[in-house]
Amino acid sequence: MVKVTKIKGFADLFPPESCKYELMERQARAIFTRYGCQEVRVPLLEKTELFARGIGQQTDIVQKEMYTFLDRKGRSLTLRPEATAGLVRAFIENNLDKQGVCKFFTFGPMFRYERPQKGRMRQFHQIDVEYFGPASPLADGELILMLWDYLQALQLKNIRLELNSLGCKECRPHFISCLRDFLAKLPADRLCPDCNQRKQNNPLRVLDCKLEKCRQVLKDAPKITEHLCLECKKHFEQVIGFLQTGAVELELNPFLVRGLDYYQRTTFEVIAQNGKIGAQSAIAGGGRYDGLVKMLGGPDVPGLGFAVGMERVSLLLDLEENNKLDFYLAILSPLAFAQGLVIAQKLRAKGFKGEVSFEAKSLKSQLRIANKKRVKTCLILGEDEIAESAVQVKNMDTGVQQKVGFEDLEQALGIQV
Ligand code: HAM
Repeated sequence: MVKVTKIKGFADLFPPESCKYELMERQARAIFTRYGCQEVRVPLLEKTELFARGIGQQTDIVQKEMYTFLDRKGRSLTLRPEATAGLVRAFIENNLDKQGVCKFFTFGPMFRYERPQKGRMRQFHQIDVEYFGPASPLADGELILMLWDYLQALQLKNIRLELNSLGCKECRPHFISCLRDFLAKLPADRLCPDCNQRKQNNPLRVLDCKLEKCRQVLKDAPKITEHLCLECKKHFEQVIGFLQTGAVELELNPFLVRGLDYYQRTTFEVIAQNGKIGAQSAIAGGGRYDGLVKMLGGPDVPGLGFAVGMERVSLLLDLEENNKLDFYLAILSPLAFAQGLVIAQKLRAKGFKGEVSFEAKSLKSQLRIANKKRVKTCLILGEDEIAESAVQVKNMDTGVQQKVGFEDLEQALGIQV
């Protein structure tokens, strides 16, 4: 019999790969709920019209990447290519604007008929966050800070945040006409065939062409951030100020326009800088989309959000590093077990992961165990330490050891999830 195989661009996930998805979801729940976000679930299948209107008729997603089909009654349905449009629909349909600011997150599969390659699948997974209600630049700042916080919690290294503003209904048309003038003056052979098309239909998209040929020409193109109206300029500066205070490393990129038409003002992407992930280096992207809720038939409520690409983050994740215990508590004397248990329970209640030794062995053999477990910190407790209400804290990477009072242990271990 001929075997039935999976569809091109779709994948089965087994351990250890599936463990990475569990970790990404677990950390998302832990971090996002700290900022007041609530988990929601929305359908995978929506009416095609929602995406055509929401994402934009001229986008690549709507023009060539959607899985669209007719149901048994001849209605056009589409497997969601992203989560924002569905969440906006759900927000409107459930009258959630009555509840003030809403902060939601959701996980799940998305579907885009793209050419599969490393980090690019036809069924892929996103962690999606949406804020409904806040117009303030503080919300943009908090949203991006939360994303950064999340990526740090996953211990991702070599990532950078790119930030831009796409202006609003007032200032963007003026910028687009400057851009059109610039592009019109270019001989057709200076741009790739796609950009020659985009030049007519969606000139903004020319700006983020990845081909070196187009990039060279575009160096001299007008910059949107130099054409912002006063309100958009102020908003952008406040977002930048907030992020600098929050110690997010960011880079301004006036060419960052994103592939969906609903954005206004702030847009951002997180880029992985090491080679592990291949050409598809954007691991997350998002921005502000004031006007989208109204455009889809709801009240005039501002919105903003982002999505993290789980396939791409999984390429960067080091499971071993993430699953390391925060502490191993070495017990030097049988009289220290009770106190050790109290300390461990207090730390666990604060979210630290750790184990306590079951036997009072020599320090040397306990350090060997801690080493084997690859813990970050070994806590050492004997009768001398108990007499001083303190614990020896040994950093297993540097070997540095210091005595820390019971009350200060949490701080010594650092704030972790
Ligand atoms: P997006 O930039 O289209 O934005 O997708 C977000 C992330 O999903 C990308 O940065 C990438 O990591 C991942 N991704 C996209 N396509 C694929 C693919 N074919 N295979 C693997 N990963 C992929 C959005 O989807 C917006 N809805 C984000 C948003 C939320 N904006 C506001 N709220």
